[in-house]
Amino acid sequence: MIGIFDSGIGGLTVARAIMEQLPDYNLVYFGDTARTPYGNKSALTVQAYARRCADFLISKGAKVIIIACNTAASAAAELLAESYPTPVFEVITPGAALAAQLSRSGRIGVIGTRSTIASGAYEKRILGFRPSAEVVSHPCPLLVPLVEEGWFRRRETAMIVKKYLRPLKLRQIDTLILGCTHYPVLAGLIQEKAGKRIRLVDSAMAVAGRLKTHLEDTPDLAARLSRGGRSEFFISDVTPQFEAIAQKVIGRRLKVLPAEP
Ligand code: DGL
Repeated sequence: MIGIFDSGIGGLTVARAIMEQLPDYNLVYFGDTARTPYGNKSALTVQAYARRCADFLISKGAKVIIIACNTAASAAAELLAESYPTPVFEVITPGAALAAQLSRSGRIGVIGTRSTIASGAYEKRILGFRPSAEVVSHPCPLLVPLVEEGWFRRRETAMIVKKYLRPLKLRQIDTLILGCTHYPVLAGLIQEKAGKRIRLVDSAMAVAGRLKTHLEDTPDLAARLSRGGRSEFFISDVTPQFEAIAQKVIGRRLKVLPAEP
């Protein structure tokens, strides 16, 4: 089983990408809706939450853990990788690697929650892959609540996206990392406001691609993962809003079960 966790709904974009790229593998998803948002909490608090999420996924049979939340990845990726024998994947490194490789000018923009941007995790990873890169980061705290409201194409959302992208465009970035797993649902709008000269990097797609390659290269791990294309979704606070937005993100009705890790 592939275990995926996020603070709530955003990680569904990662689940969607994994279901597309690895349709045969079973997955278990945990969204920590009782404690969301993680994006404005301290690293210490997010680390404690991330441990509970990982413990829950392991108790459900996960043999691989995907941190499908940039905020949790920036605060707790190293901690989880050291604490569990299970391989841990996270959204930041694959997105940073892809952007470093794709950018022509080396001017790379990153948008994310306040905590992700303040952690400097993307900058550190990008410079590790491409030391000459110039990284322009900008927090976009209003985008998570807009996505959670289902305001994917509203005029207000478009105005806010445009305002957030302005400083990045002024610095003439040619590549923009969607450094929050909520953002891929706004990708169309973000691309429109960024303009066609800026290439978007979706960290959800990037981590799914990284996992796929890893499973191809590590057949003994692939053999330990159960198959059949089944998926289970758990959240720590079940609300009708979650189910409605989850359906929009995944593109079909989901059966969501309560969990209290
Ligand atoms: N989806 C989370 C991320 O990728 C942000 C949501 C939150 O603030 O909890 O950072």
